Amino acid sequence: MAAAEKALLAANWKMNPTDGGAALELVNAILPAASSNVDQVEVALFPPFPWLLGVAEVLGESGVKLGAQDCFWEMSGAYTGEVSPKMLEGWCQWVLVGHSERRAYLGETDAMVAKKVAAALSCETLSVIMCVGELDEHYVSGTGSEVVTTQVKAGLSSCSADDSARLVIAYEPVWAIGTGKSADPEHAYKTMRLIRRVVGETIGAGAARQVRVLYGGSVNAGNVQSYVELPLCDGCLIGGASLKADEFSEIVRVTGAVYGHR
Ligand code: 13P
Repeated sequence: MAAAEKALLAANWKMNPTDGGAALELVNAILPAASSNVDQVEVALFPPFPWLLGVAEVLGESGVKLGAQDCFWEMSGAYTGEVSPKMLEGWCQWVLVGHSERRAYLGETDAMVAKKVAAALSCETLSVIMCVGELDEHYVSGTGSEVVTTQVKAGLSSCSADDSARLVIAYEPVWAIGTGKSADPEHAYKTMRLIRRVVGETIGAGAARQVRVLYGGSVNAGNVQSYVELPLCDGCLIGGASLKADEFSEIVRVTGAVYGHR
């Protein structure tokens, strides 16, 4: 069984669109589908920071949630260019932490990710999606499980069981991100099962049941069903396909149909 009654579909727009008007067009185009299935599917949009406020205004009371793609681990101070979880509180419900692109291009370590997760969770109205996933070389050499285990344990090192209701872990194999080479659902299932086990060992059995676990990596309208119908899978984290309004709307529809039949 998945941990939650509703699926979570998190749309990570990454550094797109570059134009604020296009961001508002995208959210307006997605909104009818995203808000039509709120009993079965929680949709959360993660636009770039400069577009958050405008997107929040369009979302209004639609039930579609808003998230930031990152946050810093301090609440305020002399940290040029950083955005604190405190600044996101009130108008974002979600924050993404530890995405593999930040780990790869900005040198984010497990220790930094752990501090961000703890800081974000200390803001009681924020929920966190922590991303983990192995590189291609780990997948090929069969060491992916160890990598994911280390990332989950380290990332949760300052968390307690009480945090699990606001904690989501996204399994995103790096070799599947933006490549069109989505993970075999069986591989995704085994890794999501491992993630729950590690959560149990790290912060307790209750947390292992309550934490939500997502799959991400080349999810599209054609393959989303094979992930959201997996036991232990609570939804998907979607990059490229979330920038295409028609495709993302279809992803919401397919997911809603799977959850509607439970
Ligand atoms: P794609 O869906 O483009 O593969 O990106 C996945 C991702 O990184 C979402 O965070």
